[in-house]
Amino acid sequence: MILKILTVFIALIQITHIFSLENGLARTPPMGWMTWQRFRCVTDCKNFPDECISEKLIRDMADRMAEDGYLEAGYEYIIVDDCWLAMKRDENKRLQPDPERFPSGIRALADYVHSKGLKFGIYEDYGTLTCGGYPGSIDHLELDAQTFAEWTVDYLKLDGCYADIKLMDDGYPLMGHYLNKTNRQIVYSCSWPAYQEGTIQPNYTKIAEYCNLWRNYDDIDDHFGSLNDIIQWFASKQDNLSLVHGPGAWNDPDMLLIGNYGLSDGQSKAQMAIWSIMAAPLIMSNDLRTIKKWHSNILLNKNLISINQDRLGLMGKRILEINYIQIWSKTLVNDIVAFVFYNPLPYGTPRYISVPLKQLGLDKKDAYNFYETFSGDLIGKFNRTDFINIKVDPSGSVFACWAEPTKLASEPKTKSTLWKI
Ligand SMILES: *[C@@H]1O[C@H](CO)[C@@H](O)[C@H](O)[C@H]1NC(C)=O
Ligand SMILES: *[C@@H]1O[C@H](CO)[C@@H](O)[C@H](O)[C@H]1NC(C)=O
Ligand SMILES: *[C@@H]1O[C@H](CO)[C@@H](O)[C@H](O)[C@H]1NC(C)=O
Ligand SMILES: *[C@@H]1O[C@H](CO)[C@@H](O)[C@H](O)[C@H]1NC(C)=O
Repeated sequence: MILKILTVFIALIQITHIFSLENGLARTPPMGWMTWQRFRCVTDCKNFPDECISEKLIRDMADRMAEDGYLEAGYEYIIVDDCWLAMKRDENKRLQPDPERFPSGIRALADYVHSKGLKFGIYEDYGTLTCGGYPGSIDHLELDAQTFAEWTVDYLKLDGCYADIKLMDDGYPLMGHYLNKTNRQIVYSCSWPAYQEGTIQPNYTKIAEYCNLWRNYDDIDDHFGSLNDIIQWFASKQDNLSLVHGPGAWNDPDMLLIGNYGLSDGQSKAQMAIWSIMAAPLIMSNDLRTIKKWHSNILLNKNLISINQDRLGLMGKRILEINYIQIWSKTLVNDIVAFVFYNPLPYGTPRYISVPLKQLGLDKKDAYNFYETFSGDLIGKFNRTDFINIKVDPSGSVFACWAEPTKLASEPKTKSTLWKI
């Protein structure tokens, strides 16, 4: 018996050694909602009672997520970003929330979120202070991990302001170790490479061993320039980044802007489509109490969510550029391939391209049915020597579709879906 236990124990150690962050979490890209992009660091609840970072804001959003179909579609984490803390730790050096904005405390707030079937996420910073100037974790990593676990936190975003970037290669794993020691399953989101990029080469192999997701690049802001800059950055690094991307470990190009002020209809669809192709975390940051229907329809599109959540977890790539149209593709289960044709140029009219299926990598099966992604409508059936003609509107719009292998003789369905394939 003892020998048997010992053998199992040794086997476990070996498995642990090969896959370090086997915490069983984030097997598909995390989906949820976070305060930062839309609500930033508003702390004035007198003048902005509906917008300040407070337990009311989180409860309001939890209600909307549970009741308006977001949770059902997969958006499960609700995450408080910076500016929830009091300016000082308590007398036992424990973190505490701002007492005016979180009068019931974080545990009670997490209980409320859990009562809605959602999961609760929180923010801290690896350095001496958070980016907003609140107490950082660096001297209290273990205590903070314990505090989060006691509060029943399910997700931690650990930022990297006011920290030495050279310490991060050891510091972020150390926090991961303390989170693991709490025995609570906590998704670990690291900002580690985002602070190193541009100064030192991040070790993505190591980052993927210790973090469930990680921010690589600059914060997103509510306009197309920021969105397009992020898209181009990820495309330029895709060959390196895709190597470490997959179940349990995700590159994170930052929050979805959809539902806010800055993006057009076409640009909103573009972000959702490209984030889905990249298998990026889908973390909204908007006001779900006032969101317009055309925005929520994009966020709740089941085909795009299915492309994003595909269980292979491949990071799609920009495979071609033809006549300034960027073509992105991602292979899904059942040899289905999702495509996004993206037109970032601002020149008035749509652009047309005609692409041989072979150039899209579709030359292994006899024929393919193409469906438009937003609607699920049949575009047509094509054989492998065919060309497909695509029209893409300008100014950051996309045309999105998927191709599924079929027999030459079979008649295609006029509508299809990727939901729960
Ligand atoms: C802690 O790490 C071990 C080894 O990687 C893993 O098996 C276990 O599931 C982790 N526990 C939690 C709570 O993350
Ligand atoms: C990156 O981290 C991995 C795993 O921790 C390690 O084996 C490797 O030597 C590191 N690479 C560099 C260039 O430091
Ligand atoms: C890919 O990673 C290697 C080192 O791991 C680095 O030298 C190279 O510059 C990276 N490529 C890009 C495009 O960042
Ligand atoms: C493929 O389609 C083209 C054009 O529709 C047609 O000319 C050709 O015969 C088809 N090939 C096969 C093998 O069906």
